[in-house]
Amino acid sequence: MRPPWQPLPLPRLLRPLLLGIAFFLSCITTPTLVRACTTILATPGSTVDGSTLNSHSNDGEGTVDPRLVRIAAADHEPNSLRDIFFAYEEYPRYIGYSRNVSEYFPSKDQTPFAPIGRIPQVPHTFAYFEETYGVINEKQVSIAESTCSGVFGAKPAGQGGKAIMSVDTLSQLAMERAATAREAVQIMGDLAVKYGFYGAGSFEGTAESLLVGDPNEGWVFHILPDDTGTSAIWVAQKVPDGHVTIVANMFIIREVNLADSENFLGSPNMFSIAQSKGWWTPGSKFDFTAIFSDGEYAHKFYTGRRIWRAYDILAPSSKFPTTYKDIRYSSPYPFSIAPDTKVELATVMAIMRDSLEGTPFDMTAGLAAGPFGSPDRWIGGDGESKVAGNWERPIALFRTSDSYVAQSRKWLPAQVGGLVWFGPHGAHATVYVPFAIGMQDLPPAYKIGNPSKLDRRSAYWAHRYVENLANLRWSDMIKDIRAQSSKWEETSKALVGKVDQIGLKDPKKMTDLYIANANGVIKSWWKLADDLMEKYADGNVYGKPVGYPAWWLQAAILAHPPVVGYPNGPPPVPSTAMQMFNRKHRGRKELKPQEALVS
Ligand SMILES: *[C@@H]1O[C@H](CO)[C@@H](O)[C@H](O)[C@H]1NC(C)=O
Repeated sequence: MRPPWQPLPLPRLLRPLLLGIAFFLSCITTPTLVRACTTILATPGSTVDGSTLNSHSNDGEGTVDPRLVRIAAADHEPNSLRDIFFAYEEYPRYIGYSRNVSEYFPSKDQTPFAPIGRIPQVPHTFAYFEETYGVINEKQVSIAESTCSGVFGAKPAGQGGKAIMSVDTLSQLAMERAATAREAVQIMGDLAVKYGFYGAGSFEGTAESLLVGDPNEGWVFHILPDDTGTSAIWVAQKVPDGHVTIVANMFIIREVNLADSENFLGSPNMFSIAQSKGWWTPGSKFDFTAIFSDGEYAHKFYTGRRIWRAYDILAPSSKFPTTYKDIRYSSPYPFSIAPDTKVELATVMAIMRDSLEGTPFDMTAGLAAGPFGSPDRWIGGDGESKVAGNWERPIALFRTSDSYVAQSRKWLPAQVGGLVWFGPHGAHATVYVPFAIGMQDLPPAYKIGNPSKLDRRSAYWAHRYVENLANLRWSDMIKDIRAQSSKWEETSKALVGKVDQIGLKDPKKMTDLYIANANGVIKSWWKLADDLMEKYADGNVYGKPVGYPAWWLQAAILAHPPVVGYPNGPPPVPSTAMQMFNRKHRGRKELKPQEALVS
């Protein structure tokens, strides 16, 4: 997911000054933080079952289209053209007939999108799932997206520029055309060079990264516009088998060796452009990230903390540093790592759900988490403009529209083996449910979801509802939620084992079984919302007042002396029967005031 559209690039020297002005202006108008996504790829040699796991969280601002849809395979007439649309990521992400997806057909008050370009179509396109980006296709090629900063920006065609390829469109074209991850990378790179790539902004979000997996291998793909705004610069590096990698809103590919085509692919213009700008001289080390990345966006550790955390979970023995000077140049974390123990599907899900628990940066601890340890840190409001500072950036966020783990399993027929474990809304309170790429349809609940209109038929809304409710008393309610999500994920794993045996013979049955499972989740999630309300309403647990933790009441005096707070709140009543009652009985036994008077 990319940040909101921002003005176009300016000469590098002007940037600090203009950034300062822009920041000042943004503070007094609409404060805008950068929003973004986290991606993790585990190669077959790094996982317990030998599958490739490719994970993405789509972290917007509560306006991103959360729908998962299936695009059918199709044959195309010779000389036909494929329409290219502007990447509009908010709801609805696309309206029209051109893409032949019934969920995108216009309703009577909607106008179909006009294409911003057309490219030659291929004779046959593969079936795939997509959310904002392509997810997995019927060859088990998977994609996970994360927006990055870049040194060049470009405007799209129709908005003053020439470029027609967004990362959204590239990911769709890769799904439609590629049978392997390597092919996907080459196809996307070539199309972007030919038709021009545009990102979202200038200071941040002009560049993109995709993790691309297939049953046998995984690649990291980075792309940004070239210096003319009409082409692209791109590079891709294969993730060593046995390794896991994470991209979190910043490039990670360092030294590039295009002569090693087994492990590197890319556009040769990277060298000539870097040289012409005086950023590189032939013979010296070519560090793609140092040259073309604009570093971390939003704040220091915005990227590095997530890499550190994922690596710390996967390989605690590595003991990577938690700090560094400038990640763009100092490269404190490797491109990929071998995990200490082989990775389970559940390991990746746990990383996606992570809020830095148990680390010095724990989002669920301390006063900022409130009395009930919520990891959520809302955005906007006058706080952002009046108080300088930043929150830590955990992997799981409340403002995620959806996250998933795509799984490619080489020992199974692709239609059955290619799965997406799809989790609506924030990963920390979601249920990941499996859908196989050979399914004939998806459950309606996952195909609908307007983020600005509560809809009880929508999977997104069911999960958004429960996650928000959990902020009443996160520390307890998240346990109830996790108990349910674990239960459903275990059930789902067992179901996958069963469907694997029959899916190829009976795609209809496979479709029905996976849909029934997902429908069960949505039904139970609305029930969970009611159960949580019943259990925790008004600061109670099942009708018993449980109040606030002592540490928080004590902390309140430090945060707000001397007016509000508990220890320094109004004094006890003067010595009366009621006070004696309070001293004697409070917290022990419920007595009526009349009883207190006689005690
Ligand atoms: C549109 O998609 C449907 C399946 O959803 C398919 O049957 C039909 O052939 C497609 N039409 C074209 C023109 O590709």
